[in-house]
Amino acid sequence: MLEIEFHNREEEIQEITNILTGRPDLITFVYGPINSGKTELFNHVINTLPEDFVVFYINLRERLVRDYNDFIEALFEINENRKKKLVKEVVAEVTRFAGIPISRALLDQFFKEGKPKNAFRYIVEVVKEVKSNGKISVLILDELQKIGDVKIDDYLIYELFNLFIRLTKEMHSCHVFAVSSDSLFIERVYSEAMLHGRCRYLLVDDFDYDTAKAFLENYGFSGREVELALNYFGGKPIYLVEAVKNRHRLREFCGEMLSSRRSEIAQALKLLKELGDEVVIRGKMYEVEYEKVISALKELAVKEQLPNIVDEVTKRYLVRENIVFVDPVRGILKFQSKLDLLAVREVLGLMFDGG
Ligand SMILES: Nc1ncnc2c1ncn2[C@@H]1O[C@H](COP(=O)(O)OP(=O)(O)OP(=O)(O)O)[C@@H](O)[C@H]1O
Ligand SMILES: [Mg+2]
Repeated sequence: MLEIEFHNREEEIQEITNILTGRPDLITFVYGPINSGKTELFNHVINTLPEDFVVFYINLRERLVRDYNDFIEALFEINENRKKKLVKEVVAEVTRFAGIPISRALLDQFFKEGKPKNAFRYIVEVVKEVKSNGKISVLILDELQKIGDVKIDDYLIYELFNLFIRLTKEMHSCHVFAVSSDSLFIERVYSEAMLHGRCRYLLVDDFDYDTAKAFLENYGFSGREVELALNYFGGKPIYLVEAVKNRHRLREFCGEMLSSRRSEIAQALKLLKELGDEVVIRGKMYEVEYEKVISALKELAVKEQLPNIVDEVTKRYLVRENIVFVDPVRGILKFQSKLDLLAVREVLGLMFDGG
């Protein structure tokens, strides 16, 4: 079977390395379009980090996080083999965790409490323990938006942000990376007053042209094959991987991918036109206007990138439908992928050179 190797990301790795070699001061929010390679990048970084970094990588993707208990369940990991050992000994021996190590009894206690105060205090203790072993903690929470709507008294996410601030800006004891592919969530984070001056943003975008070209050339793509694949898929890593696997029938594969995406978008717009839709903003429901959606798509299909001034309801609908990506830091809107751009152009019946 064809093995696909991790490709490039030199700049992003350099940036993460710079962060990790400095004192933890800020929370790092990692964002980017869907399937741009955020998770892959962090897996790679974790695997190449020296052993003096103790990494807690928690991926909420597969998790159903409806309430406090689900969150606690996802955050901690009972280390069955080491039941009798103190956390102190566990973090001295192991350097990669898929959850904060904990004893069954303590986890049960946190469940009972129904509030994260002591659970978060425990995390601070674990981080201190790591430090006393001469090591550095790295906490990575992937798909953080999954807890965005969980409420205890207030939103859980605010309590979590307070923990992050405590670990970074105040204690300087733990590097914190919060990863999300939900650009509306990142936009919410970006406008959050409590985080101003306390975080930085790291964009993991699709590969640029040269990086994508080099990726395909590694698998023997000719100049014409590269042009064909990039014309359909731009630098979206997941599609490029599929293009490599389907090289023997590349043209057909590109056509199938486009036609499938075109059908999905056409169906979404058909539903909107016939049945209408709403988005909720700050607890209030707003009607999505079909005409406004079409006109925003038309403008975006021509310009490929727009300033982040499209009306809020239209924008949120398009982001929610995974058609559009909003980058709040750079203040722009663009399609989630080149394939989306082409599909929308076809759906709208627009004709472009080279499209
Ligand atoms: N640097 C890379 N080198 C090789 N393949 C990559 C790279 N980055 C991503 N990929 C491929 O793209 C796929 C999607 O990447 P990944 O899951 O990391 O994206 P993501 O940005 O985390 O997606 P999501 O938005 O769903 O969280 C991977 O499974 C892998 O096949
Ligand atoms: Mg991911």
